[in-house]
Amino acid sequence: MGKIKTLGKVAFIGCGAMGEAILKGILKAGLLTKKDVTVGVPTVGRREYLSKQYGVKCFADNKQAVADVDFVVLAVKPQMAKTVLTPELAQAIPAKATVVSIMSSIDISMIQGMIPDRAVVRVMPNTPLAVGAGMSAIAPDQKTTKVALEAVKNIFGSCGEIVVLEESSMEAVSAISGCGPGYCFVLIDALADAGVMAGLPRNLAIQLAAQTFAGSGKMAIETGIHPAQLRDQVTSPGGTTIAGIHAMELHGVRGAMYDAVQAVLDRSEALKGNK
Ligand SMILES: NC(=O)c1ccc[n+]([C@@H]2O[C@H](COP(=O)([O-])OP(=O)(O)OC[C@H]3O[C@@H](n4cnc5c(N)ncnc54)[C@H](OP(=O)(O)O)[C@@H]3O)[C@@H](O)[C@H]2O)c1
Repeated sequence: MGKIKTLGKVAFIGCGAMGEAILKGILKAGLLTKKDVTVGVPTVGRREYLSKQYGVKCFADNKQAVADVDFVVLAVKPQMAKTVLTPELAQAIPAKATVVSIMSSIDISMIQGMIPDRAVVRVMPNTPLAVGAGMSAIAPDQKTTKVALEAVKNIFGSCGEIVVLEESSMEAVSAISGCGPGYCFVLIDALADAGVMAGLPRNLAIQLAAQTFAGSGKMAIETGIHPAQLRDQVTSPGGTTIAGIHAMELHGVRGAMYDAVQAVLDRSEALKGNK
């Protein structure tokens, strides 16, 4: 990845769960110092918390937050986009700045419509970013310079893994890694429940289930071995694991994954007003 000096100054417009996780990542990695970060959020309590916790400058007026910055990270809820991205804010964003949006279901073209003549990078992160284990997909527009893209890779690389791809893949990415932590938490909880039913204390059951998901994910990534092959390695003929997998298949666990992803894609289209 590129040199950290390419980052310059960064403003966050909205700094809730995701914004704070990114802010924490870049400060912890030493990519920026607190004096190079500004935040625009409406709630006074949130501003006080962020200033106290991270020493960053917070503003109630988003226009003040973006003055003279190199990057503007849009981390408000998608339904707030039209309210927040006013023509006045667009004008206040320096011409040199790259706009980085993490808003789900908001296309690059929609942002370009609201903030014309600025480079726009769309990013789909996920919540494990908060513990440095995020998965962020990055799609730059035509205006984004190589230097700016490198800086965005540094920002999201400071809190997990990154991939750079075409925006056309973004909806599918959202349905897999954006929403994926939700699927994983349901599965961890279900496996832990089954452990409780098998007689284990709740805390132990959660620890066993969560670490098993974390370890299996790490193993699939680090070995590069196809997951089906890894599964084959743990299923001895006539053994216990294959009996467990058989029960899962009878309950349609694979079909559930396909349906979950399709449901996310359908819901996203409906929210955009396309269905
Ligand atoms: N959570 C996920 O799993 C996930 C995954 C991928 C992408 N995303 C995207 O990340 C974005 C942020 O999600 P989140 O979970 O961090 O939401 P969140 O915790 O609700 O944070 C939203 C932030 O927006 C601020 N805000 C509201 N109105 C504003 C305004 N007029 N001007 C400036 N800031 C304003 C809020 O400020 P106050 O605190 O002062 O109210 C808050 O800091 C969303 O667009 C979401 O689609 C989320």
